[in-house]
Amino acid sequence: MKINVGIDLGTTNSVVATFNRAKGVVEILKNDLEKSCTPSVVCIENGIVTIGEEAKNMQAAGNLNTAAFYKSMMGEKDYTVFIDGKEYTPEDLSTEFLRALKANVEQTNNVQIEGAVITVPAYFTEAQKTATIRAGKRAGFEVLKIIHEPTAAIIAYGLTGSGKKNVMVYDLGGGTFDVTIAEVDGSKVVPIATNGNHNLGGKNWDSAIRKELIQRFLDEFGINIENHPEEYKMLQVKCEDVKKRLTSLSSTDVTVQCEGYSGKYEITRELFEMQTYNLLCETNLLIEKCFSEIGNGFGWHSLDEVVLVGGSTRMPQVKEMIQREYGKSPVTKNIDVDTIVAAGAAMQAQLCTDDVLVLGGATGEVPPVSLRGSPASRSGGLVIRGSDIQDITAHSLGMLALTSDGKNYVNSIIIPKNSKLNQRFGKRYTFSGTTLEVYVLQGESKDPYDCALLYKYIISGMPEGQKNEFSVNFLYNSNGVVEVEAELDDGRSLKAEQLPVTESLSEIISRLEKEREEAKKATKDIEIIFMLDTSGSMSGDPMTQAKRALRDFIEGLDLKRMKVAILDFAESTRWMCHFTDSERELSNAIDRFTVGGPCGIGTSAKPLSTHGNDFNSKKASKVIVVLTDGEWFDQPAEVKTAITLKSNGVIIYAVGFGKADEKFLSQIASEKGSRKIDLSKLSSTFKEIASSIATEI
Ligand SMILES: Nc1ncnc2c1ncn2[C@@H]1O[C@H](COP(=O)(O)OP(=O)(O)OP(=O)(O)O)[C@@H](O)[C@H]1O
Ligand SMILES: [Mg+2]
Repeated sequence: MKINVGIDLGTTNSVVATFNRAKGVVEILKNDLEKSCTPSVVCIENGIVTIGEEAKNMQAAGNLNTAAFYKSMMGEKDYTVFIDGKEYTPEDLSTEFLRALKANVEQTNNVQIEGAVITVPAYFTEAQKTATIRAGKRAGFEVLKIIHEPTAAIIAYGLTGSGKKNVMVYDLGGGTFDVTIAEVDGSKVVPIATNGNHNLGGKNWDSAIRKELIQRFLDEFGINIENHPEEYKMLQVKCEDVKKRLTSLSSTDVTVQCEGYSGKYEITRELFEMQTYNLLCETNLLIEKCFSEIGNGFGWHSLDEVVLVGGSTRMPQVKEMIQREYGKSPVTKNIDVDTIVAAGAAMQAQLCTDDVLVLGGATGEVPPVSLRGSPASRSGGLVIRGSDIQDITAHSLGMLALTSDGKNYVNSIIIPKNSKLNQRFGKRYTFSGTTLEVYVLQGESKDPYDCALLYKYIISGMPEGQKNEFSVNFLYNSNGVVEVEAELDDGRSLKAEQLPVTESLSEIISRLEKEREEAKKATKDIEIIFMLDTSGSMSGDPMTQAKRALRDFIEGLDLKRMKVAILDFAESTRWMCHFTDSERELSNAIDRFTVGGPCGIGTSAKPLSTHGNDFNSKKASKVIVVLTDGEWFDQPAEVKTAITLKSNGVIIYAVGFGKADEKFLSQIASEKGSRKIDLSKLSSTFKEIASSIATEI
């Protein structure tokens, strides 16, 4: 029989389950040892792969060709283990494990497995997720979907068909910790916050015992077991056993052997709990982080149910901590902490094929799926649709961007963490080039060095020789994996090609810096003469407003590319400052403006004719900005000069208010460069001119 399955690919144990459509229940597919859980241990000897209990026994016997806990290193390019004369990455080991698990389960249950939904910790990063997908495919599965372990647990546990509740899943497995808070409404699951640590799990609790025993053995015999790989492997397995015993006993004895010496030590639960208290606190901190991310005073009191998932939640200290913080007991009824994640994955696999799932089996037939007294369960048939199950991302997604002052590269976040999957988030660009380099970063920090550099995309296909308006869209698809695409404002899509990242982040940043410097050198500088009318009518409020507007104008300019000169004109003209890129000098010049100063109070000056050609550099683009509030004595002469200036490439903006002559302004200004405005619009108008100089020249 051909079937689809859900696989909980755990750090320590893996579980395979399938949804029996006819009965409407989840069935756990046991291995050849009649066990639901298969230890995620791999042994490879002479090319023969052994997994599960048998491999774990080999590990316990100190066999160096065994590998365990490789899930914790998933996606790490440079991490490999050397077994059976070959280097294996965690992805390779997962592939070998999954392939052998598939064969074992198929044979034992007389089925043929085709599609699989594989679960991953919610806190897995992009690299870890894509490595898991690849491992599934290489092992011979059609990977239907990747889903988060806590979400899978909620699917299997929380759907009752009626009522709204906030559920927290606390999933402490062998190598990872995940906490997810979800709103469950009838058959709908909507996670609202998730956090985790993919290097915090039962193995860290084992390590605490291992450290203690290594120290005691060293103290007694002067031998460091860490220098004995076989004994060290054996000790690793032993410590897990000690930890498990301490779940029901208050103390236990353990014998440690190395180099023919043997030591017997007592470990008490009290000591164990003391030495692992910081690990427990770490899980609590991540819960608090979820609360603060949800905001609005969300806290323990807001939770209707707390569900414990994962083998490590059997430790009494976990339940005690939850009880202490929550004030109530976590839900334990109808929950099998070992198989619930696989059960949810199996249900998701069913949703992937038929988009609908009818839970209708007898209650209690399969422990992980509970239909606790809901109306739907009584009538035998809670219907769940694919769209009922949503999920969120545990990591923000951003891109490498330059701050607007041009000083720093930052991670500009496009998709904040805890956003729903399958939602498009865009970033708009106005750009005159034809290709754009986009670097995708994953992480919460503004500092790109604190984030993971995921992908390099080259966006191309923009029409040449024009300014293009387009957006680059980011998406976490239903697997929680990143997709990037781009389209022009008119809806035409652009090519978004993903290229391998061959440089480190610091190499990329220094290359971009260099390219920017070179581009700056290649771009023409801009020289601007600002001509300000200081004739009598400007006294009082107009001058105050003009000064403010001039300051705003200067602030809006990129002075790295520009030099500004300021001219005072009334009956005569006077340079308040000559071409400078010093903000301070410009500010001092603006301060010194007065009405009725050395230039008098009349309007007989001809600023354009007198100084319209006084630019410094032949190479620079030339811009004149005029501000006036009245008619000039010899306007026709100025119009004539302006026409010559414009034909020589000078761009003129002419802004007037009060009694300024609108027609004259339009005659001296370049196309679209004149504005007759109200005094109150002065600042915004000059900001607008500054930005059009920056972007259009
Ligand atoms: N009785 C017990 N007391 C304490 N710890 C236990 C007990 N039983 C199992 N564990 C621990 O639970 C962990 C395994 O849990 P589980 O099978 O849920 O993890 P996993 O799914 O393999 O890992 P992960 O979800 O982190 O990838 C191991 O560290 C194991 O030692
Ligand atoms: Mg697990």
